[in-house]
Amino acid sequence: MAFEPQLSVIGLGYGGLPIAMAFSKKWPLKGFDLDRNRINQLQEGFDRTGQYESDQLLGARIHFTAEAKQLRDCNFHLVAVPTPLNEEDQPDLSPLVSACKTIGTFLSRGDIVVFLATVAPGTTEDLCLYTLEQASGLIGGVDFKLAYSPNRIDPGNREQSLLHTPRLVAAEDEATLATVLKVFRSVVQAEVTPVGSILVAEAAKVLEVTQEDLNHALMNEMAIILDKMDISGHEVIQAAATNPSFRSYVPGLTGGRYNAAAPYYLSQKALTLGYTPQVILAGRRVNDHMSNFIAAKVVKELVRANQPVLGAKVTLMGLTLAADSSDIRHTKLKNLIRELQEFGMDLQFHDPHADPHAVKEALGMLPRKFEDLALANALVVLVPHQEYREFGLEEWLGLMEPQGVVLDLAGFIDPKPLISRGHRCWNL
Ligand SMILES: NC(=O)c1ccc[n+]([C@@H]2O[C@H](COP(=O)([O-])OP(=O)(O)OC[C@H]3O[C@@H](n4cnc5c(N)ncnc54)[C@H](O)[C@@H]3O)[C@@H](O)[C@H]2O)c1
Repeated sequence: MAFEPQLSVIGLGYGGLPIAMAFSKKWPLKGFDLDRNRINQLQEGFDRTGQYESDQLLGARIHFTAEAKQLRDCNFHLVAVPTPLNEEDQPDLSPLVSACKTIGTFLSRGDIVVFLATVAPGTTEDLCLYTLEQASGLIGGVDFKLAYSPNRIDPGNREQSLLHTPRLVAAEDEATLATVLKVFRSVVQAEVTPVGSILVAEAAKVLEVTQEDLNHALMNEMAIILDKMDISGHEVIQAAATNPSFRSYVPGLTGGRYNAAAPYYLSQKALTLGYTPQVILAGRRVNDHMSNFIAAKVVKELVRANQPVLGAKVTLMGLTLAADSSDIRHTKLKNLIRELQEFGMDLQFHDPHADPHAVKEALGMLPRKFEDLALANALVVLVPHQEYREFGLEEWLGLMEPQGVVLDLAGFIDPKPLISRGHRCWNL
């Protein structure tokens, strides 16, 4: 009898919810999360990640549940739980292990489990397989099958990037691969490429992310060197980008939850194999240092503008991972905040996209509405949200004290009008 996929999505966060929304348009689907609050909110039409409107959620053909046993009649499980770092920058696989234990309670003969998370090569067929077998009493490769298809979603617009970004798929045998390809190709409008093994697909994903992290590190290091010569990194990168073979990466506080994690996952794996990586974590060290560099820069700019450092009012604008995104899981922003506070600065936050309560939970302070912001001695603009792009000179001036300084990490603010009005304006 032909396999009739009945989907479940395990983990309905920033990555899992768009997967559930997109796949439910083609297949019967249940969405599971162990966070009951999240499930209650989704059932009521509220998405705290800010990706979907109420009518989209209420109109979706998804059975949202926090009861694992409700997934018993599903046979094709998409696992989208987080694989972050812990406080010591060590891979934290506990959500993945816990998800496998939960899946083990309802896994049935003939099921396919597809992992989507970024992991070190070998994790799916080692840790995940072992945990699923232990929890279910079934035998992997015989009773149930494994597959892997890494997420390549862009934090700016996850569902669109899910639909339009080429994707890799791997499975433990040909028949499973054919089924997984059929399901993904029915939804993803870009190329879905089968690769030879789950190991190759896992390794490809960590390589993609690590390459991006190293490219950011190179731009960051270049920006630090150029800054010592009072040259704008953004301007130099734009100039270099006129060479068609140059790949542009923006310098900044590179520390998204997953691009910061992959190099550590890869390095930890290398160490277990007796090889000490030379390059992979060098990039991370540069990127991890950017929060100190930027905090020191705020101090220098204040001093140069004859402004006080102790007690300086500093507005951090744009707290999300990317422009126009609501995702505030920026691992390095916390470091920048801590550094600025250690200098005795008085911070206030602004972001037009982030959920204020999520900001309070993650960063310890509610963001202010535009009209409630106190005049600042320094504006630190982290990402170029559309709202900020539309600011004219008067809006910027209206946010600062007369000698206020602007630190534009994204390099999108025209400095000349501000300088002509007596303000310092620095970009990376
Ligand atoms: N978010 C992205 O843009 C992105 C991009 C590329 C790859 N990824 C990959 O997608 C995976 C998921 O990331 P995310 O950003 O969606 O994470 P997230 O933190 O937004 O969401 C994870 C969700 O999983 C739930 N969860 C945690 N443990 C669970 C368990 N044991 N059982 C059921 N639910 C559980 C949480 O309650 C949460 O709602 C990551 O491994 C990451 O590698 C994400």
